[in-house]
Amino acid sequence: MIAPSILSADFARLADEMAAVRGKSGRGADWLHVDVMDAHFVPNLTLGLPVVKSMLAVTDLPVDCHLMIEKPDHWAIGYAEAGSYNVTVHVEAADDPVMLAKNLRAAGAKAGLAIKPGTPLDPYLEVLKHYDTLLVMSVEPGFGGQTFIADVLDKVRTARTLVDTGHLNLMVEIDGGINADTIEQAAEAGVDCFVAGSAVYAATDPAQAVEGLRRQVEALSERST
Ligand code: DX5
Ligand code: ZN
Repeated sequence: MIAPSILSADFARLADEMAAVRGKSGRGADWLHVDVMDAHFVPNLTLGLPVVKSMLAVTDLPVDCHLMIEKPDHWAIGYAEAGSYNVTVHVEAADDPVMLAKNLRAAGAKAGLAIKPGTPLDPYLEVLKHYDTLLVMSVEPGFGGQTFIADVLDKVRTARTLVDTGHLNLMVEIDGGINADTIEQAAEAGVDCFVAGSAVYAATDPAQAVEGLRRQVEALSERST
């Protein structure tokens, strides 16, 4: 799955930019990734619940909210209640990630847990049993257009193995620095869902960029079967 991040879109033309990743001929974006930043958890400020509600009203794409905020135990539930498909919180910021996952699911969303590049996976394996998605950050959260950190792929491989052996039941998502040069190594490590911001929205045709990334992943899996 490909989830374009609207962080790299033109915020003055959000509805158009959201529509620009719909496939004209192909499948287009699977999810729309929305980066919520609060200028506390990360040194950047983007948008919040009122804007997400307006976005939900003009798209039928599943909205994937990535909350880079403090106090997600308090704030995340609103994004679920508003109709987001998947709501991802950072494990570094959550007080009670198990309760938070239960609350998100009770509000009708899938629950996602994000980990920063320097955060190990092992301490959270029990917590992850309550989650539907694991978002492995492959850049320091806060900004688009940064360089991919390949070291995080070890965490992807660990999660992939745990899912494939039935110890976890979740989708592995990667976020940060995904483009034509990096997507194949992420796919080989076992990613299910690729977030791409600048690689999609810096392209002349964002929908075509989405298709290009998907084709790379598909070609890889055809070669390995
Ligand atoms: C960064 C955000 C990402 C960002 C990715 O903190 O979580 O979703 O938009 O942008 P690229 O794909 O340009 O690295
Ligand atoms: Zn993100």
